[in-house]
Amino acid sequence: MDKKVTVIGAGNVGATAAQRLAEKELCDVVLVDVIEGVPQGKALDLAQAAPIEKHDAHLLGANAYDATAGSQIVIITAGIPRKPGMSRDDLLSTNAGIVKKVTREIASRSPQAILIIVSNPLDAMCHVAYEATGFPKQRVIGMAGVLDSARFRAFIAMELNVSVENTHAFVLGGHGDTMVPLPRYSSVAGIPITELMTAERIAALVQRTRNGGAEIVSLLKTGSAFYAPASAAVEMAESILKDKKKVLPCAAYLEGEYGIRELFIGVPVKLGAKGVEKVIEIKLAPEEQAALQKSAAAVQELKSVLATLKY
Ligand code: APR
Repeated sequence: MDKKVTVIGAGNVGATAAQRLAEKELCDVVLVDVIEGVPQGKALDLAQAAPIEKHDAHLLGANAYDATAGSQIVIITAGIPRKPGMSRDDLLSTNAGIVKKVTREIASRSPQAILIIVSNPLDAMCHVAYEATGFPKQRVIGMAGVLDSARFRAFIAMELNVSVENTHAFVLGGHGDTMVPLPRYSSVAGIPITELMTAERIAALVQRTRNGGAEIVSLLKTGSAFYAPASAAVEMAESILKDKKKVLPCAAYLEGEYGIRELFIGVPVKLGAKGVEKVIEIKLAPEEQAALQKSAAAVQELKSVLATLKY
């Protein structure tokens, strides 16, 4: 393939993302992990599925970074996932150290790469990657809103017994308990869900979306969600690789948009070959704006804790 994407972390999210990238024949994939043999083994296993899945993407596993040189996109999933009872914020110090180290390795070999950050706590890890690499803000993007919106869409489709393809949803804010699902901008075949469901049912779906990751952690017990997170990261990668300019909710570095400064937070952006090509500012109702500000305050708090840590 003429495009190369590196996935750092060959665990649940990373290996699934590698599989989806290859099966969509979007690019060649380099899978990197610290555990010896794991990225090599998973890449080989995926390569052996290729004749059946009918794709010609090349997959390579490695413990070092030389093979990653010249990647157009790097998806960062390295880190530890949540266990039951843990919040995403509990991962802060461990994952900050890991994300700093791996993004520096990437920056030295793929200085033009676009980074898609998946490691949690998401918004804080975007800050770590942004500072560690010195990349322009357009090339450091967090995966959260696409996942949170997909969860909201899945719940809307289940509730109304309609095709998921007819659903559309918007979720803004940080990737945590303060995320801001926007029912007004969420629809089925263009009809706002506020016309199709009672306020009580919408509130229940919003709450389930906020709790979407924790619901899966409590079921799995040994880790966190990975199929939908991988799909979400790959949808972002596809929009960039094909320069599709999809408008997707992503964590982007804001410098005044929505009244928020110097913070990564989930907002609608246009994703194309240059990364974040535009932050789309939509008009928010006063209570929506207040919820977004509350979410920004939670991200700001984590950013301040990050500044006090040695990692
Ligand atoms: N360099 C490369 N890989 C690393 C490093 C490192 N310094 N440190 C850890 N890893 C690898 C681990 O060896 C493991 O294989 O990252 C992988 C993480 O995989 P899992 O434990 O399966 O976790 P996963 O479910 O994939 O989640 C990864 O994404 O959604 C977030 O909260 C989640 O932060 C977590 C991340």
